[in-house]
Amino acid sequence: MTGKPIDTRGALHFRFRGRDVALDRFSPRATVLDWLREDALAKGTKEGCGEGDCGACTVVLARLKDGPLRYDAVNACILLVGQLDGAELITIEDLADGEVLHPVQQAMVDLHGSQCGFCTPGIVMSLFAAYHSGAPATPASLNDQLAGNLCRCTGYRPILAAGLAACDGAAADRFAATADERTAALAALADGRDLFVGDETRFFAAPASLDSLAALTGRFPDATLVAGATDVGLWITKQLRDIARVIWLGRVAGLDAVGKAADGALSLGAGVALLETAPLLARIHPDLGELMRRFGSVQVRTSGTVGGNIANGSPIGDLAPALIALGGRVVLRKGAATRTLPLEDFFIAYGKQDRAPGEFVLAVEVPQLREGQHCRAFKISKRLDEDISAVMLGARIDLEGRRIAGARIAYGGMAATPKRAANAERALAGASLDEPETWAAALAALASDFTPLTDQRATAAYRVAAARSVLRKTLIEIAGAAAPTRIGALHAAE
Ligand SMILES: Cc1cc2nc3c(=O)[nH]c(=O)nc-3n(C[C@H](O)[C@H](O)[C@H](O)COP(=O)(O)OP(=O)(O)OC[C@H]3O[C@@H](n4cnc5c(N)ncnc54)[C@H](O)[C@@H]3O)c2cc1C
Ligand code: FES
Ligand code: FES
Repeated sequence: MTGKPIDTRGALHFRFRGRDVALDRFSPRATVLDWLREDALAKGTKEGCGEGDCGACTVVLARLKDGPLRYDAVNACILLVGQLDGAELITIEDLADGEVLHPVQQAMVDLHGSQCGFCTPGIVMSLFAAYHSGAPATPASLNDQLAGNLCRCTGYRPILAAGLAACDGAAADRFAATADERTAALAALADGRDLFVGDETRFFAAPASLDSLAALTGRFPDATLVAGATDVGLWITKQLRDIARVIWLGRVAGLDAVGKAADGALSLGAGVALLETAPLLARIHPDLGELMRRFGSVQVRTSGTVGGNIANGSPIGDLAPALIALGGRVVLRKGAATRTLPLEDFFIAYGKQDRAPGEFVLAVEVPQLREGQHCRAFKISKRLDEDISAVMLGARIDLEGRRIAGARIAYGGMAATPKRAANAERALAGASLDEPETWAAALAALASDFTPLTDQRATAAYRVAAARSVLRKTLIEIAGAAAPTRIGALHAAE
């Protein structure tokens, strides 16, 4: 095959229905849902929205990652077939053992968890992932697990009851019984070789190392980088874009590393799944953990990555404002060279980032809070779960005693890029936590910092009002006032 580097595997390998599947020919833009329904004729997995929102297409990927098999619920409608490499694909048809329903299925029957049933396969697959999570389900964990599964007719009470009844933390199904042999089968697929299926004009490539990735992006600087495909999948299903050359980052060893930068900052590799970031960021501040819990759904956070959320340059991405406020940095690599820049400088204009052709995001670095530094994050959206922000605030307030010595205030949803509120920051310097009237100039300055748009999520006037409100709440909380500032008791004490 032309264009295929030496010692590269030319076929995709994954497990399905107890056997190895090898594909040496498939469209780089084909989704797992297309493959299931059109090629494998496995039509139990449903298509609802085709954009990651409804969960009807939920399947489970059993994967190896530092320890026992993981069972990850993902949206098949926006997952590319190539992203199956090295995984076992489990669908609704696989759960029953002959005539005997899986415990999750039986609980859904017994507790009346299904009416029209269109959403049911996806809900069962999300519960199946919870069944294999290794921990007993709680109402809160199931609310999270099912936030990406919409059911319009049953109502969630019986579905939650079924989940609580079935998911007791002790998996005892035929998947548990065959875990050792299935683990060995997956380990045999992890060959550490680069994958390249197709030719120079149309391919799906999955480099296995950072050097291979750097070489490939140098050779094909205009190829589409795909990490979790929770954005790119929609280019395919909603914008019907032809994506001919794909470089998938999901097999690159080390791109999902979590570590410490020289100054102690938390370093998150670009390939770290959003789901993994919640506990890590929560250690910096609980608001950041809660922000990540409210990011999309479990399915979206399982596939979506840190690098994808930064590199997409979205003005309404949730990570950027929070990390800019903390003084976050982005690390980029092109060829053998790396460079680091303040995250805010990465976003130049709408759709334009400081990233050269062939360059990729390697990591983001998140400084720890120092003595006297306080942080807050507020996400304003129409629904609490699985909704895109209308306005997102990340703020760091630096105190000297009760006086504000400095502030970093960054918003999403207020401009064409995630952006700092320079005028408000200046106006806050010198203000006192004990004299709310000294905050007024900063709150007023937000109107000069931003001229937001009116769109389907919010009007411009609403955005300015909400931006002011969350900044005021930030100051009220840091001042220590007892006034209620949050919906519910979501905010853990500092
Ligand atoms: C249902 C749903 C809900 C969502 N909810 C939220 C939400 O609450 N908050 C939010 O912020 N976003 C949300 N998103 C958007 C999306 O999930 C995030 O932006 C996610 O972080 C994208 O990551 P990814 O790995 O899937 O990126 P991909 O889709 O794989 O890629 C996105 C872009 O980044 C580029 N890219 C990816 N990785 C790199 C890299 N390492 N270097 C250079 N370029 C790279 C790709 O080429 C592409 O242009 C949602 C999406 C869906 C479908
Ligand atoms: S079809 Fe709705 S999430 Fe996939
Ligand atoms: S049972 Fe009908 S949508 Fe859930």
